[in-house]
Amino acid sequence: MIDTILIIEDEKLLGSELQRHYLKLGYEVIWLQSYAEAQRKLQSKKFDPSLILSDLNLPDGNGLDLLEEHGKNMSSCEWIFLTGYGDVPDSVRALRLGAFDFLTKPCPQEQLDMIIRSALRSANAQRRLQEKSKDASQRYAFDTFIGSSNVAHQTQQLLRQLSQAPFSALILSGETGTGKGLATRILHYNSTRAKEALIELNCSALPKDLLESELFGHEAGAFTGATSRHRGLVEQANGGTLFLDEIGEMPLDLQAKLLKVIEDRKIRRIGGETEIQVDIQIIAATNRNLQDDINNGSFRADLYHRLSVFELRLPTLRERLEDLHDLVPEIIAEFNLKAGKNVSKISSHVWTMLEQYNWPGNVRELRNVLERCVILSTSSDLPEQWLQLQANPENSCCPELKHNASDIYLPTDGSMGLDDMISEIVSTMLKKYDNNVSEVARVLKTTREKVRYRIEKYQLRKSSSQQEDHQ
Ligand SMILES: Nc1ncnc2c1ncn2[C@@H]1O[C@H](COP(=O)(O)OP(=O)(O)OP(=O)(O)O)[C@@H](O)[C@H]1O
Ligand SMILES: [Mg+2]
Repeated sequence: MIDTILIIEDEKLLGSELQRHYLKLGYEVIWLQSYAEAQRKLQSKKFDPSLILSDLNLPDGNGLDLLEEHGKNMSSCEWIFLTGYGDVPDSVRALRLGAFDFLTKPCPQEQLDMIIRSALRSANAQRRLQEKSKDASQRYAFDTFIGSSNVAHQTQQLLRQLSQAPFSALILSGETGTGKGLATRILHYNSTRAKEALIELNCSALPKDLLESELFGHEAGAFTGATSRHRGLVEQANGGTLFLDEIGEMPLDLQAKLLKVIEDRKIRRIGGETEIQVDIQIIAATNRNLQDDINNGSFRADLYHRLSVFELRLPTLRERLEDLHDLVPEIIAEFNLKAGKNVSKISSHVWTMLEQYNWPGNVRELRNVLERCVILSTSSDLPEQWLQLQANPENSCCPELKHNASDIYLPTDGSMGLDDMISEIVSTMLKKYDNNVSEVARVLKTTREKVRYRIEKYQLRKSSSQQEDHQ
């Protein structure tokens, strides 16, 4: 899509020069010369520019008033002000109102081009996000949290209530794979904030300095390497939700800064002078016991109390094993569709195995197990041989599980991709049957062509002969 730039400029020479320049760069450009004309244009619902480059002092009004009036309804449009007489209060007001930048004339063309490019990138990111969020509220309806046990019902009920409540912060706790990410999406996309951004940050994924600039943003030149202004995630989440995953991993000094943001509802970019107003809802997730972290001094009690306006604990799968009867058919249907398979029968023995397992990875692990089974299925039965539920103390009472443990180990924690799994299976079988393709095909209940195809695809012969060479 070609980006539309609206230029509001009463100086004829500058306005026509800017229009000519940006038309030449391939943008659609509209140039208006007064407040009243711009006002009329912006009132039209069909007009949807990606960028507005506006003068501040127009003969019949002030550009900032236009932003104040229309900015809220144009969240995928960035505003840049270009002014000859701007003073500090104006620039502060512009940034408070969410302007992308505030520049003084004359601004070198190259610099303006660079700022416009990054403003358009930002506008387009917003646009993509809005398109996604349109169907996201259907994708994350309340019943996507599957389960009919009492605990699942309670969770769904709480999600319903919380999505209608204007909470400022919330803690989601629960073991890995219990659905904290899913619950966050359900909460956001069913709330009044659904049209605004849901911004996610995993606090364990970044080193401290990067985490700080990711969260709060920085001004150009704030530190070595900060070549241009960067809007932090808190600012990007303005109007929407900030999801802080693994909050227990956040360094203590950042915890203090985050607390200040929540209390003051303002942020200051690193190296910035101006405080920017923000309206965000924070969902913080943890699979640790934050109370223990408070006791050992690695989590601030004041931040915990501020965040835990409400705390929702997501139940483990072993607390709600009866929900397997809702989850398993749904998940199998999803993977049938993806893989073009038709698994529809689950033997009572398989059900027993599923019910006797203790699911340390919860629903995520269940999904991984079922994905593997569906992909490797050769009939409408869910293949028991690919369940490969790892032995653990809780199911040691179930000897038949150990009988079925295969000699191929495929981890279900996400550390191995599907291609690697298939390659591992075929290569192990080839070794076991001395590279006899017909035998491997027979054992895997497939055709020789398919085995040969996999050998080619994963270059298995080459690697096995290389191994032989080394020996
Ligand atoms: N109740 C549920 N119904 C349907 N799907 C679920 C449910 N709970 C979790 N899932 C699915 O299981 C997978 C893992 O869930 P999710 O990523 O939300 O877990 P998490 O608690 O955030 O885990 P982690 O702590 O490891 O980040 C996702 O694909 C999610 O959609
Ligand atoms: Mg998660």
